[in-house]
Amino acid sequence: MTMTERSLPAMPPRKPTAAEMTVLLFFHAALSGAFIIAQMTGDEDTYVLHQVAGYTALAAIAVRVVAGLLAPTGSPLRLPRPTWSLGNQRRNPVYAWMAAILLVVIGASAVTGAISDVVVAVEHLHEAISEFSLPIVIGHVALVLLLQALKHGSKPEIRAL
Ligand code: HEM
Ligand code: HEM
Repeated sequence: MTMTERSLPAMPPRKPTAAEMTVLLFFHAALSGAFIIAQMTGDEDTYVLHQVAGYTALAAIAVRVVAGLLAPTGSPLRLPRPTWSLGNQRRNPVYAWMAAILLVVIGASAVTGAISDVVVAVEHLHEAISEFSLPIVIGHVALVLLLQALKHGSKPEIRAL
């Protein structure tokens, strides 16, 4: 990367089209559902369900990453590019940081899970990352609610929170 490229402001993504929004919502629903089930089934006695949920989470993240890499510049489907620069953004930069952290941590949980399915020694690493991922996701939900409340603070239905 040359100096000129680095000093250019990142192109802010345009608003998602209805189709892109559907893809993002579908991804989010599949990943959230799979993650919650995987968290609840980590014990040995529910291992098959844990495998199904865990591999579903892994597949959802893999599809998201591939779509993010293939999407053209400026597309909202591109992977999050965190920056603290406030200058050229359509919305709060905290969202991109949050999205990137979530994708990395949940991705690491799912990948180490799949590896520990074959290499048993990786199980402890998988358990540690997975336990770490739970407060991150809870923090994510709290942060989304907080940012929405700050943004729409004057609306009565949100003020009720
Ligand atoms: C994002 C996806 C996943 C999450 C959130 C997750 C979560 C967890 C958690 C919290 C535990 C620890 C349970 C405990 O401490 O007793 C665990 C254990 C485990 N997970 Fe996952 N997991 C995921 C994906 C996977 C995948 C894809 C596999 C592959 C089969 C897998 C295989 C295992 C194994 C072998 C254990 C150890 C079970 C045992 O105690 O014997 N996980 N997982
Ligand atoms: C009530 C629950 C939840 C709410 C309201 C919520 C809301 C949101 C919102 C608004 C975004 C968009 C951020 C952006 O546009 O950049 C987002 C992104 C994300 N959420 Fe959630 N979420 C919830 C639960 C979960 C759960 C349980 C997971 C667990 C895996 C999760 C994982 C993610 C990930 C990985 C992203 C980044 C998506 C991307 O950029 O591709 N969320 N969430």
